[in-house]
Amino acid sequence: VKVGIVGGTGDIGEGMALRISQVHEVILGSREAERACATSDACHLALDEKGLPCTCSGVSNQDAVDRAEVVILAIPFQHMAATLSSLSGFEGKMVVSPVNPIGRKEHFFFAPPPEGSAAQQIARLLPKEAKICTAFNNIAAGSWKALDAPFVYSVAVCGDDPAAKGVVMGLVASIPHLAGFDAGPLAVSPMVEAVTPLLLNIAKYQKMRDVGIRFA
Ligand SMILES: NC(=O)c1ccc[n+]([C@@H]2O[C@H](COP(=O)([O-])OP(=O)(O)OC[C@H]3O[C@@H](n4cnc5c(N)ncnc54)[C@H](OP(=O)(O)O)[C@@H]3O)[C@@H](O)[C@H]2O)c1
Repeated sequence: VKVGIVGGTGDIGEGMALRISQVHEVILGSREAERACATSDACHLALDEKGLPCTCSGVSNQDAVDRAEVVILAIPFQHMAATLSSLSGFEGKMVVSPVNPIGRKEHFFFAPPPEGSAAQQIARLLPKEAKICTAFNNIAAGSWKALDAPFVYSVAVCGDDPAAKGVVMGLVASIPHLAGFDAGPLAVSPMVEAVTPLLLNIAKYQKMRDVGIRFA
C-alpha cells in the first residue's frame, strides 16, 4: 500500500514512518517539502543503521495526498480544518485519522468538536467520496519511535466504508506486533479518541511513559 502522511514531520508522523516504511512505501508530507525530506532522510539513516529496509520519500502535503492510496492525517486537531482546506484531491482516497481532540487543565480531557469527534469533523470537511477511518489513535509517538522496545498494542479501527476499513485493518496487521480490531462505524470514533486522554492521565498520575492498550 502507498501510505501518505500529512504532517509527517511531527512526533507521530515520524514514528509511523519509521515502522510503516519498513513494510510499505511511505510518502511523507509537510507544509515545507524540505522539512519532509529531512525527516525522510532521518528515517533512512535510523533504519539503515539497524540493517532494516526503508522506502520513504519527503514531499509537500499535497504531493503526499496525490501519490498515496491511504492518507494518514498526522496533524494536531486545532490545525486540521485549516490544513484540509489547503489540500485537495481526497476523492476516492482512504483517509486515516489518528487525531485526538484533547484539552488540558489539571488533568487531560476529551474536547470534541460539535460533530462528536475529530474523525467525524474530518468526514464533514472532506469530499463525500473520501473514505474516513480512525486508527492508531491510542499509540504514543514514543512507542512508534522506540524501535528496539516491544510494540504490542491493539488498534481500534472505525469507519463506514467496509472496503476501506478492510484495507486499514490490513495496514495495521502488516506492522509487526500490532493487532487491529473492528470497532464499528465512524459513530464509534468519539469513544476511540477519548481513550487517549485517559491514557495520558494514567501516565501522568502513575509517572509512566507511553501508556498503550491491548484488547484480549
Ligand atoms: N504524539 C502522540 O503521541 C500521538 C499519539 C496518538 C495520536 N496523535 C495524534 O496525531 C496528530 C499529530 O500529533 P503530533 O504529536 O505528531 O503533532 P505535532 O508533532 O505537534 O505536529 C505534527 C505536524 O503538524 C504540522 N503542523 C504543525 N502546526 C501546523 C499548522 N499550524 N498548520 C498545519 N500543519 C501544522 C507540522 O508539520 P510541518 O510543519 O512539517 O508542516 C508538524 O510536524 C494529533 O492529532 C494527535 O492527536 C498523537
